[in-house]
Amino acid sequence: MIESKPAQATRSAYNRAEPSFERDLVEVTRGTRAGEYLRRFWQVVAPSVDATRTPQMVRVLGEDLVLYRDGSGTAGLLYPRCAHRGTSLYYGRTEEHGIRCCYHGWVFDADGTCLDQPLEPDGGRARDNYFQPYYPVEERYGLIFAYMGPPEKQPVLPRYDCLEHLAADETILVDATSRGTGGPAICDFNWFQHYENVMDPFHVVVLHDSFSGTQFVPDMGTMPEVTYAYTPRGIKSQQVRTMSDGRTLRRVTELALPTGRIVPSPTLSIFGPVTGLGFMMPIDDTHFRIYNLNVAKNGDTGDRRGSLLGGKAWRELTPAEHRQFPGDYEAQSGQGEITLHSEDRLASTDRGVSMLRKLFRAEVDLVASGRDPIGVAFNEADALIRLDAGNYVAE
Ligand code: FES
Ligand SMILES: [Fe+2]
Repeated sequence: MIESKPAQATRSAYNRAEPSFERDLVEVTRGTRAGEYLRRFWQVVAPSVDATRTPQMVRVLGEDLVLYRDGSGTAGLLYPRCAHRGTSLYYGRTEEHGIRCCYHGWVFDADGTCLDQPLEPDGGRARDNYFQPYYPVEERYGLIFAYMGPPEKQPVLPRYDCLEHLAADETILVDATSRGTGGPAICDFNWFQHYENVMDPFHVVVLHDSFSGTQFVPDMGTMPEVTYAYTPRGIKSQQVRTMSDGRTLRRVTELALPTGRIVPSPTLSIFGPVTGLGFMMPIDDTHFRIYNLNVAKNGDTGDRRGSLLGGKAWRELTPAEHRQFPGDYEAQSGQGEITLHSEDRLASTDRGVSMLRKLFRAEVDLVASGRDPIGVAFNEADALIRLDAGNYVAE
């Protein structure tokens, strides 16, 4: 028998503990504690242009829903199984008002009202007794937001200061490519892995600079002095660096809970306060998408193709090139579909991650105990959210 020292026995992969993830950080479905927390906020479901006369399926927070726009311009988001006998409204036809089911023709409006039962006498004498489950939607900044939580807790849709004061020659560009993950538009791992990456400024020095060469700009590759702070809306980190020209860069990155991510230009192409932000859309427990909004000059298409290796886009990289040039997508998907928190060993440079987890857990607890989370407002007067994020330069 081979004698092994106790320390070596502990290190044997055979002896590792059964791993687990922390449900309150990752789950998004209805009825879970974290899913109920997320449902206390308006969530992005699609760009406004995606709601058309042709109904389509969208998956948000683990729920499959039918999104459409009727002839009067009203967008609707309905539970897909028709209230009559359950066929999918995906096969329905939009009308001037509402959507007509393909099977027996019942029509439902965006608030679930049954407008017609054409096979019933007089179009359905008792049709007021029927309704289609729905979620309220609002459109702002070129996106469709839905409120999927308890109706009596519906907050006002927030406004963000960086998107509110456009000049006459400016517009808000919607980028649905999940820019910021460096990967595909729909990422195939849990959304919180990306969210906590935003509070991990130190990975920039290794993953984005030294591991495979400079992915952003050389000034971002120097070790920053980092501090973190909680804000009224979430958490922020400040990273101070001396740039190659001798000036000091004070970079502030923040999260506006539960899904707002505010990351100033990592290539330092924009200085000053941020001119946009991103909303993460948890699709289900193992998929998410990011919608980035940016104020741009009219006519700017915002089509700045990411250049990874030899000018290639992410999807053009071979498996060998993904290993040669790993970015955010590779690092975060590499943690698994849902990371195993029990195996994490947080170190001194993970302070932002541990602070975020602590805050998120506390907010989930707050909602579970019947109270309101930070970031919800019930009056229009309180709807404006001011951000601190930006790339600030001092001589
Ligand atoms: S199943 Fe929709 S109208 Fe009958
Ligand atoms: Fe990154």
